[in-house]
Amino acid sequence: MNPNGPESAGAKAFYVTTPIYYVNDAPHLGHAYTTVAADVLARWHRQRGERVRFLTGTDEHGQKIMRTAEANGVTPQEWCDRLVSEAWEPLWEHLDISNDDFIRTTQKRHTDRVREFVQDLYDKGEIYKGGYEGPYCVGCEEYKLPGELLDGEGEYAGRKLCPVHKRPVETLSEENYFFRLSEYGDRLLAHYEAEPDFIQPESARNEVVNFVRQGLQDLSISRSTFDWGIPIPWDSKHVIYVWVDALLNYATAVGYNENPERFEATFPADVHLVGKDILRFHAVIWPAMLMAQGLPLPRKVAANGWLMVGGEKMSKSNLTGIKPQDLTSHFGVDAYRWYFLRAISFGQDGSFSWEDLSARYTSELANDYGNLASRVAAMVGKYFGGVLPEATADGDAERAVRDGLAKAVTEADRRIGDELDFQGGILAVFEFIKQVNGYLTEQEPWKVAKDESTEGRARLATILYTAAESLRAIAVLLNPVMPETSRKLWESLGAEASRGALADQKVQEAGEWGGLRAGAKVTKGAVLFPRPEEPAAV
Ligand code: MSP
Repeated sequence: MNPNGPESAGAKAFYVTTPIYYVNDAPHLGHAYTTVAADVLARWHRQRGERVRFLTGTDEHGQKIMRTAEANGVTPQEWCDRLVSEAWEPLWEHLDISNDDFIRTTQKRHTDRVREFVQDLYDKGEIYKGGYEGPYCVGCEEYKLPGELLDGEGEYAGRKLCPVHKRPVETLSEENYFFRLSEYGDRLLAHYEAEPDFIQPESARNEVVNFVRQGLQDLSISRSTFDWGIPIPWDSKHVIYVWVDALLNYATAVGYNENPERFEATFPADVHLVGKDILRFHAVIWPAMLMAQGLPLPRKVAANGWLMVGGEKMSKSNLTGIKPQDLTSHFGVDAYRWYFLRAISFGQDGSFSWEDLSARYTSELANDYGNLASRVAAMVGKYFGGVLPEATADGDAERAVRDGLAKAVTEADRRIGDELDFQGGILAVFEFIKQVNGYLTEQEPWKVAKDESTEGRARLATILYTAAESLRAIAVLLNPVMPETSRKLWESLGAEASRGALADQKVQEAGEWGGLRAGAKVTKGAVLFPRPEEPAAV
């Protein structure tokens, strides 16, 4: 992480964010899903040669955190410090998350700027004092509309439940400060209209548009019934509403009101990746806050679907005991990173199952990809003493491979880099892997090897060069998704000597044929996807 990295002059950075997560508990598969997706996007853009700013962090204020800390007999700050250092940061490191910064909303660099932002809105007349009473869900940290509540059953009979958490809401009555959100409906709608890609996917966009069309209420932006938050600058009996505090992280982390040069070079975000549960905050409240300050709006808010277990959104209470580490210790970090993006169409809900992961690991990673890599390295070893031969006998079959690669590159770059269609992009590369496997099956280099004539050797050299060069491109294209695997493959192909560092390889140029130099030292590297041990009962 390098929060103080230099801002080179010139083009604005590609700025991608995850939500900042509540630290009331340890991270689970659902949090890791959004973060891995953001990481793949950040790595993809870095490998396009762009300057990238990738931000994640933690949301540490509010009632939910305060209550958890109390229940554990520590102060909220102690609780947050413990969870961040013992659970959140270690998991991101373990999963190879390449964030450039990690913001915590209790940091002074954040709290000072939030106070200034809110004071400024107050001075501009965007904030006023008023009263409010309504049903409140602490899980969501949000007032609910009576119409969206569910009727409780069983232990909750006769009570009203939050539709997300399925727990009773509380009636909260407060004298609060309000932001004039209701005045921004028309401007928001005009923005959605003018920028059709602002909210992704389409279904999410429609939902937001319908919500705003129904009319917006002013937003209560302060709380006075507890004190774990940032005090309102002009009235310290109130703390700032945790969502207003949290959304501002996207600005405070990149120099808002502090480092104009950095701010200009980074803000606004190109993509805010969020779960669909928090879409409205990002697509309605956040842009309205920015409009009120005359600041530019993010280019895109992309909502991912929910990871489901047993038909329910995966959450602390229904994890069925599976932690990210349980999966990585069995299948490895790279297979974990790959699996959720490969198996679930981004934006849709998806179910996780150990069996599905296990089956795909074996067929797509170990058999299709891993075997291809080990076969090619083994044959270059066996037939050419580990020295990559020159391709001198190109024909239609090789041209078809090159065409297949060109297609995979264009497709993957568009889908992952532009459309956030991770599944489509990964599939395009795996189609190509299949094609190269098919090419080897058809060309039968093990048979050609028996022909020791000059033509026979030239043919064998060409086949193996073609396969190795294809693997070179595959390593580049899959590096954002499976960095450790690509590193191993890069090493096994001896690619560094002809191409330089893997991280410097541009994805959009991965199809430029001839990257590997004849003479490269090819070694039989570590098995890319070893057979996993049988799982412990889960
Ligand atoms: N602190 C707020 C976000 C503030 S952003 C300015 C918050 N935090 S959270 O810890 O509840 O994390 C929410 C995010 O975690 C979701 O929006 C989503 O990105 C991710 N997910 C949590 N559970 C998930 C699933 N079961 N499935 C997919 N993503 C999930 O809300």
